Amino acid sequence: MKISVSDLPAAQLAAEALILALPKNAEVPPDWQPIDDASGGMISEAVSSPAFSGKTSQTLTLPLRDAGPARHVVLTGLGKAEEVDVERWRRAVGSGCTAARARGAKTLAVPVPGSTDIAASDIAAACAEAALLASYRFQEYKEVPDDQVDIATLVIGSADPDAGDAVRQATTVAEATCWARDLINRPGNVKRPTAFADEIQKMATAHGLRCEVLGADRCAELGLNALMAVGQGSDVPPQLVLLEHGMEESDAPPVVLVGKGITFDSGGISIKPSLDMGEMKSDMSGAAAVVATMRALADLGVARPVVGVTPLAENLPSSSAYRPGDIVRAFGKKSIEIVNTDAEGRLVLADALAYARERYEPTCVVDLATLTGACVVALGSAAAGLMCTDDELCEQLHAAGEASGDRVWRLPLWDAYDKLIDSDVADMKNSGGRDAGAITAAKLLQRFVGTTPWAHLDIAGTAFAKKASSYQPKGGTGFGVRLLTRWLLT
Ligand code: BES
Ligand code: MN
Ligand code: ZN
Repeated sequence: MKISVSDLPAAQLAAEALILALPKNAEVPPDWQPIDDASGGMISEAVSSPAFSGKTSQTLTLPLRDAGPARHVVLTGLGKAEEVDVERWRRAVGSGCTAARARGAKTLAVPVPGSTDIAASDIAAACAEAALLASYRFQEYKEVPDDQVDIATLVIGSADPDAGDAVRQATTVAEATCWARDLINRPGNVKRPTAFADEIQKMATAHGLRCEVLGADRCAELGLNALMAVGQGSDVPPQLVLLEHGMEESDAPPVVLVGKGITFDSGGISIKPSLDMGEMKSDMSGAAAVVATMRALADLGVARPVVGVTPLAENLPSSSAYRPGDIVRAFGKKSIEIVNTDAEGRLVLADALAYARERYEPTCVVDLATLTGACVVALGSAAAGLMCTDDELCEQLHAAGEASGDRVWRLPLWDAYDKLIDSDVADMKNSGGRDAGAITAAKLLQRFVGTTPWAHLDIAGTAFAKKASSYQPKGGTGFGVRLLTRWLLT
């Protein structure tokens, strides 16, 4: 999709379909009058009838007879006027693009109003992002692609001088998000740890990131025994991939991002039920978010050092698999009793966090992981769980979440939860049972971050969409890419 910004008035934007976003009970704005005339007054009629109320994500497609190249108008709802924000714009434009595409429109235009409470450049960015994210499809394994047309061009109508830069930035981030979705949607048989590491390395070369892949021998040598234990049931061994951005240009300590990269989580010997087990191909969504964020940072030329760390392993049952009752010594020598081989994410993260801390001495660490079903129970798919040892970092991530559309909600890390993972035979156990499952998982991670300011995002509920919504098709969401880039850009 080619996206451009034009300062022409709405009626002169050249496209097969015009996407017109309106709040509830709004009137047709003056600069849409020529379009309304070309529709024979159908737009003004629709907005004052029940056919189009302007409620969130409602769309109405109208034919045009005489408005230059435009053959359709797609009205799309922004919801209550006083509640319109950039997220409502994303949803409205996402739904609008889907409706336009259903009519076979390959070229789209969306005019951005000049005078609202929100900066026009922010709305322009939201339009670009929503169009790209809404038209994402995963078709790598379809011999016959679906019959949906591809949107060739999108013209965003805005006279704001900042709109061009905002749209370019949003485009880079949305494209990285779509790449993360590809990684997540690919099946477990093609992204086993070594193949996934190769894929990351390829991206690093193409986008100018320094990449180091620590293979299984090196991981074992370093004492990343928790990572090694999780992967020992698979004949494809674990890998630890390090991506570095901006480290040569700066002496400052980096921000470290860590992403859980379980390429398939069967549960291991503590095997999962078979219903929907296939969705556990998405158990590397944290790693996908981290590597895609690194790609976006490189493309945007962000001037600060950032390191992405992704422990990759496949959790399978076999005669070589780790077992309940095993005790493993993680990096830094702390011992962990395995009570459940399905609580594998915290194990690979423990090693990655401890190793990254020793190697990089970062200013702060943020990890992302599809870590617990308990977090899905607590927050559903509307927000990721945020657990954090630093109030300021927490505030920043929350604000970035609100601005980006990748929302997060804080859960406490009180001391009272820590004793739930004490073990009789080791320094800790890898599961604290059902109670406060999202938090006890984080408490284990906390034992490996020392005093470094740290935030943990449990994205189990937000990484993979069971059903489609406005700008999110079914499947991998790429959650975290927009959040982290927004946070690192402010
Ligand atoms: N990858 C899962 C968590 C998950 C569940 C992600 C549902 C996405 C959707 C994780 O490795 C896991 O199995 N966690 C267990 C932990 C338990 C054994 C303590 C869980 O949540 O059941
Ligand atoms: Mn698991
Ligand atoms: Zn898992």
